[in-house]
Amino acid sequence: MEVVIKRDYDQMSKAAAQLVVDVLNTKPNAVLGMATGSTPLGLYQELVRLYKAGHVDFSRVTTFNLDEYVGLPANHPQSYHYFMREHFFQHVNIPQHNINIPSGTTSNYPAFCQWYEGRIAECGGIDLQILGIGSDGHIAFNEPGSSLSSRTRLKTLSKQTIDDNARFFERRESVPVYAITMGVGTILDARRLVLVASGKTKAKAIAHAVEGPVTSMVTASAIQLHRDATVIVDGEAAAGLTMREYYEFIYAAKPAAPRA
Ligand code: F6R
Repeated sequence: MEVVIKRDYDQMSKAAAQLVVDVLNTKPNAVLGMATGSTPLGLYQELVRLYKAGHVDFSRVTTFNLDEYVGLPANHPQSYHYFMREHFFQHVNIPQHNINIPSGTTSNYPAFCQWYEGRIAECGGIDLQILGIGSDGHIAFNEPGSSLSSRTRLKTLSKQTIDDNARFFERRESVPVYAITMGVGTILDARRLVLVASGKTKAKAIAHAVEGPVTSMVTASAIQLHRDATVIVDGEAAAGLTMREYYEFIYAAKPAAPRA
């Protein structure tokens, strides 16, 4: 795992965006796994900026989002469909039919989850999966206790996640209790992972995920099992890392082009 510590949120976002651009430069028809939440907003803004400046083209890209709240229609302002459209999709040239987001309103969740997994496979698998991390250590909505080999399924959100996400809703009671989410196993199947985290509220989760034991109690720790994972954090999110100096030393000594 590569750990990259950037000065601030802006630098973290730019580094993550560059990684996406690098993947698209090598494979213009790459399949991207998308995350929502406040952390990747800067990354999407930077990708939009690069697109508008003509530095990146998304016309052959396919996307799969990690998750969606159950019960929120696509036009609900807190749905992840809405989030992605507002912050990314409406600003770039990804063909509409190449955009895949779990349905929050299907009448048959098990069938939908199976279909979603099949669709990812049909598209050749995910080349680069973007991830955030919850303060309880979750990736996507794989809450503590989720199997590390789980696949796309319905999941009950933890109290911590409901509390954390209440800031986006008018009332805590409006936060959906269920989500449809890619599993940890689905995420680990991606050819490359990039996890972004910013701020001191993420320091503990990052320390557990990067340096703690691999455990279903911190599902982000499963990325330690992945052969090509990059964690990009700002200084505050890196605060709990005991090997911080070493990560900085490795990054400073890294040759410009090839990755280790
Ligand atoms: C959302 C997702 C979640 C978030 C996590 C952090 O698609 O996958 O795991 O990444 O809850 O959210 P923020 O960035 O809002 O702190």
